[in-house]
Amino acid sequence: MTSVTPVPPALPGEPHIVCTDLVRIFSSDGIEVQALQGLNLRIEPGEMVALVGASGSGKSTLLTILSGLDTATAGVARVAGHDLLTMGGRERVAYQRHTVGFVWQQTSRNLLPYLTSAENIALAMNVAGTLRGDARAARVDELLDLLDVGAVRDRRPGEISGGQQQRVAIAVALANSPQVLLADEPTGELDETTSAAVLEAMRGVNDELGVTTLIVTHDPTVSDHVRRTVKIRDGRTSTEVLRSTRVDEHGEEQHVAEEFAVLDRVGRLQLPHDFMQSLELRDRVRLALEADHVGVWPGDEGRADAAAQRSPETTGPGSADEAPSTTAGPAPMNPAAPTSRRARRAAERAAEASDAAEPREGR
Ligand SMILES: Nc1ncnc2c1ncn2[C@@H]1O[C@H](COP(=O)(O)OP(=O)(O)O)[C@@H](O)[C@H]1O
Ligand SMILES: [Mg+2]
Repeated sequence: MTSVTPVPPALPGEPHIVCTDLVRIFSSDGIEVQALQGLNLRIEPGEMVALVGASGSGKSTLLTILSGLDTATAGVARVAGHDLLTMGGRERVAYQRHTVGFVWQQTSRNLLPYLTSAENIALAMNVAGTLRGDARAARVDELLDLLDVGAVRDRRPGEISGGQQQRVAIAVALANSPQVLLADEPTGELDETTSAAVLEAMRGVNDELGVTTLIVTHDPTVSDHVRRTVKIRDGRTSTEVLRSTRVDEHGEEQHVAEEFAVLDRVGRLQLPHDFMQSLELRDRVRLALEADHVGVWPGDEGRADAAAQRSPETTGPGSADEAPSTTAGPAPMNPAAPTSRRARRAAERAAEASDAAEPREGR
């Protein structure tokens, strides 16, 4: 039996997955691609989080780093106490076998075609040297039941559906009781109904075993299955949607989804593209600190409009020509009475954008 390297203790109170200013630069033929540009992410033990983003936004790059298959160029990446940038070869192998489990989009990457479902799971335990004999057989059956694929125990991948293959793949990923489960587009090759069933199966696993779960997808409906969805844009986490349950005035449970911008340690955040377009924000913006919010106005060219929108009561001693100050101004996304044509047009577009981003109900 292979000896198991003990997991280094996480820093006290540290989340299970911590990425701070994570950078990954690929260089080939003298061209540099910054796949991750200072990404920040923190996931608590037992949380289930979805990471969504357009193709090319850096999702797979992040997951490959978290799975220990690739190393970041700079920054911090720690998973369950393992420092992924500095760990050596032996620790890396132990980490991949015992700390993380992964599920990839291509079922061919998850399962060996000539082994049955049960044999695929047992093989993962064999490679890692965990459990033997009856204990191993019992664990295999337990996992098949948990993923609701007991009926296809003795069939090979080619003899079962795509959804069943991915559930067996999840069972394989869980074979060695990892602390963290990573899945890269696990439903990418499945239809909508089957995808929903696979995501629900992952949620069941998360509930049942408490394994910290990160699912990467470009399917926006994934947020219906998780409490927290993090959006990645241009190699950085940009926004997060948190789902919660509230009881309304009729005593009915309502599921509410709220979107937040991610703010990093030094105060950087990404403004949504549609906000930037609506107000033609670029290069430089004006900021104003209010009692309970921060205002953002177009830089040079937008000054006249911003000044025109200031109401006499809220305008402080500073003039529009001065540098940003704590002078009050209208909240740009909710102008009470936009005066110029440009401001009205921007307000209309902003209203459309916020309608589209209205909290969704239902589950
Ligand atoms: N091995 C690599 N060599 C060069 N560029 C890469 C490599 N892997 C990914 N990239 C580039 O990094 C960016 C992010 O890719 P990826 O992480 O695969 O995005 P996603 O999974 O979100 O679609 C893309 O521009 C991609 O072309
Ligand atoms: Mg990808």
